[in-house]
Formats: sequence, structure tokens, C-alpha cells
Amino acid sequence: MNVMDVKVKQGRIEAEPAEVLVLTHYEGDSSLQEGAAVVDKALRGALRDLLKSGEFQGKSQQTVLFHTQGKVRAKRVLLVGLGKKQHARLDTVRQAMGIAAKRVRQAGVRSFATPLHGLTLPRTSRVDLAQAMVEGAILGCYQFNLYRSEKNSEPKDLTRMTVVEVRAQHLSEIKEGIRRGLASAEATGFVRDLCNHPSNVMTPARIAAEAKAIGKEHGVRVKILEQRDVAKLGMGAFLGVARGSHEPPKFIILEYRGTGGARRNGRNPKPIVLVGKTITFDTGGISLKPAENMEQMKADMTGGAEVLATVRAASRLRLPLHVIGILPATENMPGGRAIKPGDILTALSGKTIEVQNTDAEGRLILADGLAYATRLKPAAIIDVATLTGACMVALGQFAVGMFSNNDTLKKRVQEAGDKAGERVWEMPLWDEYFEQLRSDVADMRNIGGRGGGMITAAIFLSKFVGDWPWVHLDIASTDWSERERAYIPKGPTGIGTRLLIQYLIDQAETKN
Ligand code: BES
Ligand code: MN
Ligand code: ZN
Repeated sequence: MNVMDVKVKQGRIEAEPAEVLVLTHYEGDSSLQEGAAVVDKALRGALRDLLKSGEFQGKSQQTVLFHTQGKVRAKRVLLVGLGKKQHARLDTVRQAMGIAAKRVRQAGVRSFATPLHGLTLPRTSRVDLAQAMVEGAILGCYQFNLYRSEKNSEPKDLTRMTVVEVRAQHLSEIKEGIRRGLASAEATGFVRDLCNHPSNVMTPARIAAEAKAIGKEHGVRVKILEQRDVAKLGMGAFLGVARGSHEPPKFIILEYRGTGGARRNGRNPKPIVLVGKTITFDTGGISLKPAENMEQMKADMTGGAEVLATVRAASRLRLPLHVIGILPATENMPGGRAIKPGDILTALSGKTIEVQNTDAEGRLILADGLAYATRLKPAAIIDVATLTGACMVALGQFAVGMFSNNDTLKKRVQEAGDKAGERVWEMPLWDEYFEQLRSDVADMRNIGGRGGGMITAAIFLSKFVGDWPWVHLDIASTDWSERERAYIPKGPTGIGTRLLIQYLIDQAETKN
């Protein structure tokens, strides 16, 4: 993942000596936005002419790049369309900046300047706007070419983005937005990298090593439980999944203790616990998956990667919170010692599970991950998992499936998702569905039969969280993109990471 230097600079945009000035415009808007208007004046109406000619209408993702020929100090201007004003949301800015950064890079240029985009959205702060701009620009340029020998064919990464603002009183908010945008974009890029690595590299041991590296960050402690440790604890469900693999499983715990607000009354507050499904490859086990698209199952550790990246971001942002990340990490493989349909496992909570399909392994490892989380007396538990193909069937590519037993927590996660442009859609967590999980021989079975596959998976998980405030996010719909979008590449997307980070940022700002 590349690093881009992003700065705010006080000054007039029309006087900025940039390689490219990036300016945005709403489709059908008769007036130019503040930044564009002053540049247009300096260019003696060149932008207005472009609009009048109909060559550029401001349609979403439309761009025009032209040379300024010395009329302003910037060498080029790039106009980017925002689409219709009535459809604008914070993500519109993110997308426009993703498109802009890619267009700049395509021109062989490595830096650009832009004003803070005046989105005229209700209740949108400058902090949020600046954050979204940075996220869009950095994530739009994401590429993964570590395993390609001819790297020269790839366009060079951008090195610098300058946000130009004339009013001194706005600088500190923009600066804070940039700080957040850098942290969340960097975290998302980290997740994409982890998911892009093949499973012969990104093993449970390698993920444990990544976690240990994060243990060197400010305020983070890392503990790795080995197979014998989890056996002693009684994590029969997690160990059951690990049995078929030659890669040793790792149960990874990261704890971040922020200072400041985190130590009320001299004590640590109850932790926010994040649990991520970390299957480094999902073959399905003895209930083997079909060959088609199986390679995508290297990303079945996306949830865990997102938890890792979020803990690291919380530390880098110095959030005054207590956050614990839990990653049950293993492969799901067939093998001579693998669990078989009909086998019964005893989970950490003591409940027994009849495994009717070894491909429903995510819920097995999460059963133990969640039960472990409840022992930490959490303020909230949020799990993220590429849990069910049924999630993809129900929601397609644009929504994360959300389940919760707590209205306050649910609302905050929902708001964080809206802000991050990683939107969630709530699904029912009604106990009636548990009848589909009844087993003739154990406390429950691990599949729910026909109908409501995403729901029965969530109901299964609910049996391991007790009454603790909990949100479950099924990201199997969004973790992998079939096509490239404005700031989302083809392949692993890292969707969910920015939601989690935004949730923590918002949490750090709320007083209770
Ligand atoms: N990791 C898969 C879910 C998945 C499928 C994620 C496609 C991303 C894309 C999960 O472990 C799984 O195999 N689920 C099964 C459950 C079934 C056996 C009840 C599924 O969805 O088919
Ligand atoms: Mn599976
Ligand atoms: Zn899986």
C-alpha cells in the first residue's frame, strides 16, 4: 500500500502552483462552486465555456483535464462531476476524489491540489468532508502488484495531495479530517493487502506475526494463544475447524488502552470488543466447496484483517478508548483428522454443536471467539465475518448485513456505516428462527436448512453472546468486488474497516 503525503495549506486556490488543480461540479448546477468560480475568473471563463459547450456536464464520474497555458500558476485543471445535487451524500465526495486521483495518475502526474469541496450537505462538518476526500484519493489509487515481476507497467503512485483553504479559522478542522482520513485509508489498504496475499503466505502464523508487529504500536498489547492453550480453555468449536489443517491455528488477542478519557475514576472502562472471522482459506472442509471461484476464499479472513487494522488505527489516532480485538485464525481444510458431518463439538460456553456441514465453519470459530469476548465484560461486542453466501444472495454488493440485540449500539453502527459509505442493512434476529437449528443429538446444529441462511447463521452466533450488547456484521456481500469502482478495486475491498474506525471515532467523541 502506497503512502501519500496529504497537507492542508492556507492560500488562494487560483494562486496555487500545482501540477493539477482538481475542481468539482454538480450536474445541472448553474453556478460554479466557490473554488471553481475563482479559478474560472482567473482563466477568463474557461470553465463556464466548457459547461456551456455541453462538453462537461458534471455527470457523476465524468472528468475533463486541460492545460491552463500560464493563465494560472497551476499547470492543469481537472474537472470532476459530482452528479445531481439531490443525490449527493458524503460518499459522493469520496467517489469524486477516487476518480480524480486515478485520472491524475493516468496523466503521469504525481501530485494535485484541491479546495475543500463545498458539498452543501446538511449536518456535514469540514472534518468529515476532508476525511472523505483523503479516503477517496488514497483508496482510489490502491493497487496490489507484489507478486508481479514487471512492476513498471503499473502507473506510478501519487505522492502528494494538498488541500488549499483560504480561511485560517477552517484549517484546524481540515487538519483533523486529514489525520482521520489518512488513518482510515491506510487501515483499509492494509486490509486489502492482507486479503490479496494468497493463503500459502497469509497463514494463521503470518497473521499472528502481523498482530505482533501491531503490538509495537502505542498502547497495544498482543497475546497469541497456541493450540494447546485453546485446548486447555476448552474451545472445542474453534479447534474442531482447525483439525483438518496442517497449519497450526492461532487465537489472537490485541488490546489497546488509550489514555485520557479512557481512565475514568482511575479505572479502565469496559472494553469495546471486536471479533473477526479469520479463516485463512475456506475449502469447505469435508463438505468440500466446488472449484469455481474457490480462490476467493483466501479472503475468508477479511473480518480478522479488519479487526487488526482497526486496533492499529485506534492506536495511531490515539483514541481515548479501551478496545480489544479477537481473531480466531485457522484454515478450513479436509484431511484425515478433519471433522466430519455428524461430529459433535463442545464449545467454550459448554454448549454442544452437531456439525452437519463442515463448510459452515465461520460460526464455529466465532462461537468460541464470542464466548471469549463475553468473559471480558464488554461495553459492546461487534463481530465482522464473511459468514454466508446467503448474505450475497439477499443483499448483493452494496449493503452489509447487520444483526443486533441492542438498539443503541445498532444505531451507532448504522450511523458509522452511513458516514463511512459502508452501509449496513438490518436483518431480523428473531428467536423463532432457532427452530431451524435444532439438532436431534446436540444442543444445536451448525446449519439451518432451507431459507434465511444469513439469518440462521446470525441466530447461531446469538447463542454465544448472552445478553451482552452485540452487533453482527455479515460482510460476505461486500468483501470482494467483481468490478472496479471509483475508490474500490476489483477483488478484496476492505469494506467494514472504515465503518469500524468511524464507530470508534464517534464513540471517542460521545460523552457517555
Ligand atoms: N466463507 C463462506 C461464506 C462466503 C461465501 C463468503 C461466498 C464469501 C463468498 C462460509 O464459510 C460458508 O461456506 N458458508 C456456507 C454456509 C452453509 C454451508 C450453511 C454458505 O454460505 O454456503
Ligand atoms: Mn465455509
Ligand atoms: Zn468461510
